[in-house]
Amino acid sequence: MGLKKIALVGGGQIGGVLAQLAAMRELGDVVMVDIKENLPQGKLLDIAEAARIDGFDSSLVGSNDYSAIKDADVVIVTAGLPRKPGMDRSDLMSVNAKIMTAVANGVRDNAPNAIVIIISNPLDAMVTLFQKISGFPKNRVMGQAGVLDSARFSAFLAWELNVSVKDVNAMVLGGHGDTMVPLLRYANVNGIPVTTLLERKYKGDKAKAAEVLEAIVNRTRKAGGEVVGLLGNGSAFYSPASAAITMTEAIIKNQRRILPVAAYLTGEFGIDGYYIGVPAILGENGVEEVVGFDLDEKETAALKVSLDAVKGNLAFMAELGF
Ligand code: 2OP
Repeated sequence: MGLKKIALVGGGQIGGVLAQLAAMRELGDVVMVDIKENLPQGKLLDIAEAARIDGFDSSLVGSNDYSAIKDADVVIVTAGLPRKPGMDRSDLMSVNAKIMTAVANGVRDNAPNAIVIIISNPLDAMVTLFQKISGFPKNRVMGQAGVLDSARFSAFLAWELNVSVKDVNAMVLGGHGDTMVPLLRYANVNGIPVTTLLERKYKGDKAKAAEVLEAIVNRTRKAGGEVVGLLGNGSAFYSPASAAITMTEAIIKNQRRILPVAAYLTGEFGIDGYYIGVPAILGENGVEEVVGFDLDEKETAALKVSLDAVKGNLAFMAELGF
């Protein structure tokens, strides 16, 4: 049986980690396309030369030509500029929308049956644009953000509670920006609500527990910017790559995992006609199903604020002519 083909569009920092993770997990053969001459060839040659050490049989090929992605099963798009300190993700709109337009045409023409995961920012707008330009069915186009945002939320909770992150289940909904919605009501450690565990830690002081939780929510919302500020030149790349590889694995192995992704909504959570972060079942057809459920009043209001931010970005993108 031939290996699946994973195409990476964009040869920057995230692209490099994606290639290495995909090969090391033997998810498929990997191709990387970037406009910068020799860059994808060099990165993938470097990773391929570690095959004996890491023990993988995936092939890795870099190219400056979209024809290399021919018949890819999964395409992961990271093309575009990353943030610099002081920038909002929407500051990348004009440059990245232009790049995404070219990418969508290239993918449509060369890998028409692929399932596509977008990582480029501003995320929700870039996913929307890719789907519009490519004309791909909406279940085959999704954005990576929720898996990463939820992983960050989980890490902060684990560090605060001094427990293994492996037992933390916490999810973030909404757009990939400062209005994202960490779902407190459902956050738990092996089924025990985090609020219960925090109140236990702070000896029944509910106010202190709530204050700590609020700080964690705020840190989660600004976590991407925290890394940007520390790196000084560029944005996070290890964790976004890990998140997208988890999604890719769920698709390639038809795992039917429920993961938070930017998916197209048709009424779920009271939202119709927008891409935004929600839990979805990922399998061989991409987004197999959006998992909608009732939110309480506060969560509904927070998701509306986040949707308004996404709509604001879409309006800005439209003003720019995309
Ligand atoms: C982040 O949140 C790159 O958007 C990505 O770090």
